[in-house]
Amino acid sequence: MEFDKVIRERQATRKFSSKEIEQEKLDSVLEAGRIAPTAKNLQPIKIYVVKSSEGLEKIDKASPCRYNAPVVLLVCGDKDIAYTKGDYSTYEMDACIVATHMILEATNQGLNNIWVEMFDGEVLKEEFNLTDNLVPICLLPIGYKDETCPASPNHNKRKDLTEIVEYV
Ligand SMILES: Cc1cc2nc3c(=O)[nH]c(=O)nc-3n(C[C@H](O)[C@H](O)[C@H](O)COP(=O)(O)O)c2cc1C
Repeated sequence: MEFDKVIRERQATRKFSSKEIEQEKLDSVLEAGRIAPTAKNLQPIKIYVVKSSEGLEKIDKASPCRYNAPVVLLVCGDKDIAYTKGDYSTYEMDACIVATHMILEATNQGLNNIWVEMFDGEVLKEEFNLTDNLVPICLLPIGYKDETCPASPNHNKRKDLTEIVEYV
C-alpha cells in the first residue's frame, strides 16, 4: 500500500470479527516494531502477543477495549534499559514509536487495529507476571473489522494545519 494511503486509511476499530490473523501478516507487524527507532538505539521494549483464549481473558480483565480482537499486542517499556537523564526516561516515547510502527504496518497489511490506553496497569502486571522494570504503555487490538463496525467517529475530525503549525 502507498504510504499516504496507509496513514489515511488507519482508523480506530471498535468492533472486530473473530477471523484469525495470518501469521505472515502478524510477523510483518512485529518486524515493523522491531526496526523502529529508539533513543540511543537501546530498544527498551517488550511486546507480548496475546492470542490464546486464556491470554485474551487476562486482557479483558484489565481493559474494556479489546472489542473482540483475536490478537492484542501488549507493548511495554523497559525502565531498566531506557535512556535516562535525571528523572527523565524515554521508555514511554520509545514504546509509542514502536507501537506506531506496528499499527501502520498492520494497516499496510490490511489489518484493522486500535490504540488503547484504557487499561489497568496493575492488573496487566499481575496477570502477565510483568517484572517491575516493565511498564505497560499500550494495548493494540488487531484483526479484521466486523462488517457492522461503524466508521470511527473522530477519524475525519482533525484541526486545520494552521491551528497546529507555526513557521518561525
Ligand atoms: C494514545 C491513544 C490512546 C487511545 N486510547 C483508546 C482507548 O483506550 N479506547 C478506545 O476505544 N480508543 C482509544 N484510542 C483511539 C482514539 O480515540 C482515536 O484514535 C481517535 O479518536 C482518532 O480516531 P481515529 O484513530 O479513527 O483517527 C486511543 C488513541 C490513542 C492515540
